[in-house]
Amino acid sequence: MRKLMLFTLAIIPLMSIAQNPLLIPDTLSGRAINLTLQNGQVPFYGGINTQTIGYNQAILGPTLMLNKGDSVTINVSNILAEPTTLHWHGLHVSSDNDGGPHTVIDTGKTWSPSFGVLDNAATYWYHPHLHEHTEEQVTKGGAGFIIVRDNDEKKIILPRTYGIDDFPIAVQSRGFDGSGQFLINTALDTAILCNGTVNAFLDLPAQVVRLRLLNGATERVLNLGFQGNLGFHQIATDGGLLDAPVPLTRLRLVPGERAEILVDLSTHLGSTINLMSFSSELPRGTYGAANPSVMPVGSIPGYTMNPLNGSDFKVLQLQVISSTPNPVTSIPATLIVNAPWSTLNVDTTRNITFQPAQMGPTGMVNGPFVLNGRGFDMGFINQKIPLNNTEIWELTNSTAIAHPFHIHDVQFYILEINGAAPPTNMLGKKDVVLVPPMGGTVRFITKFEDFANSNTPYMYHCHMLSHEDEGMMGQFIVFDNTTSVDAPNVTLVSLFPNPTSGKITLKGLDQSTIKLFNAQGKLLRMRLATNAEEEINLNDYPDGVYFLHVSTAKARWSYKVIKIAK
Ligand code: C2O
Ligand code: CU
Ligand code: CU
Repeated sequence: MRKLMLFTLAIIPLMSIAQNPLLIPDTLSGRAINLTLQNGQVPFYGGINTQTIGYNQAILGPTLMLNKGDSVTINVSNILAEPTTLHWHGLHVSSDNDGGPHTVIDTGKTWSPSFGVLDNAATYWYHPHLHEHTEEQVTKGGAGFIIVRDNDEKKIILPRTYGIDDFPIAVQSRGFDGSGQFLINTALDTAILCNGTVNAFLDLPAQVVRLRLLNGATERVLNLGFQGNLGFHQIATDGGLLDAPVPLTRLRLVPGERAEILVDLSTHLGSTINLMSFSSELPRGTYGAANPSVMPVGSIPGYTMNPLNGSDFKVLQLQVISSTPNPVTSIPATLIVNAPWSTLNVDTTRNITFQPAQMGPTGMVNGPFVLNGRGFDMGFINQKIPLNNTEIWELTNSTAIAHPFHIHDVQFYILEINGAAPPTNMLGKKDVVLVPPMGGTVRFITKFEDFANSNTPYMYHCHMLSHEDEGMMGQFIVFDNTTSVDAPNVTLVSLFPNPTSGKITLKGLDQSTIKLFNAQGKLLRMRLATNAEEEINLNDYPDGVYFLHVSTAKARWSYKVIKIAK
């Protein structure tokens, strides 16, 4: 639930006018990358220091430059006084390397995932994913860019000189309290930050420039465009290039989503052109519109007092300066060839329904929200997906507000939004999609090609971070039903009685995952054990042969269990 914080109405952001140069994050590349999450302070307004967090710096973090095909180890150290996790949003990595809520980095600890970069050239990002604390840690500054390059992208004439004609721009909205500190989970996010800079300006050369836009806001949907309706071309979606540049004057960008655009500034030397959010044009039911709800009743406390909602506001001031020595001067005609999976070879269709946890007008807009009637539970696996499954996911939004849905592990192609083909600029690889309110639907197709692992699940969730923290999240495992079980080499866990007519007790466990399979290899149940002793109840299952898999960080055992009649 949103807290009413009317007494802290953010006056400070509205009075500050000084323009600040846009912070362009440093880059890190190579086989080993070190990130340290630390406390910082940023004097956003005059002499007031705002408490922040950042990776290797006061707020946000360096841009990680990766090449498809490279192997990389990222050492993530946490020197905050609280735990965190670090998730590579959009990257196709194993669930153990994904940095979801199960992969906690305690205070003073370092987590070092190593992985191969399998992703296509595009703009990705990283951010904390600690359950119930994601919004807080992202608000304080936990976020950074990942730029992946590949050979297909390198063949195209595109601006790609970082900080010269190719710029990452993370747009975030923030609320401040009376003492200049960030408000967490607020509807009074009245200040716009670009790359952690308030009232930012950026000098751009008078040529074709590339902007890598990220909506890093916790809730707010942006409707980006340029002052004077200057046209631009979108070239990439979340997970890759489009087939061809798509001409646009508006780009709706929802929390978690990225887009790369080309802007031709050749004829604009000396002018100032603002990047805007035309939020007056957002439809009802979108967070950021004048009315966040499509229903006549139901509102978010404080929402209507925020001057950004339903109005057009400046995001970033762009000043056009002289061109660089070898400028890109034209927009390419084509980019790559996307090859979506065929809908003729789909193994499974899954339905995910967004609902309020409690019905009634308030719940329809404010939440908490649940997926398929169930709030997030770290110990419950919501979906079990066979390795190599091609799937259609059908998302249905039975709430009064639009939600940006995100899935880990895979990129997808949108098939339909409210029964119609998606707009051309959404035909590339995606990992975030906005599902319209009041029965709105989205269908997408994807394939779960790699990384079977029944121990660590991947997440899918709403990327409005207060919704995610409040439980609008589920988890899935990808399992390989073709490989046989590891042979037990040590016996540490004892298990009795076996055969059993009902319950079976496991002893000698310690931080392990217990999974129950039937004789056909179908996963029936999974539990994360934290006690030395656990009971598994087979009462609900027919008599016959079962397998219990017990795995810890170091070892894995498999037991044949027989269920017999009483
Ligand atoms: Cu960007 Cu599960 O998150
Ligand atoms: Cu993600
Ligand atoms: Cu949501």
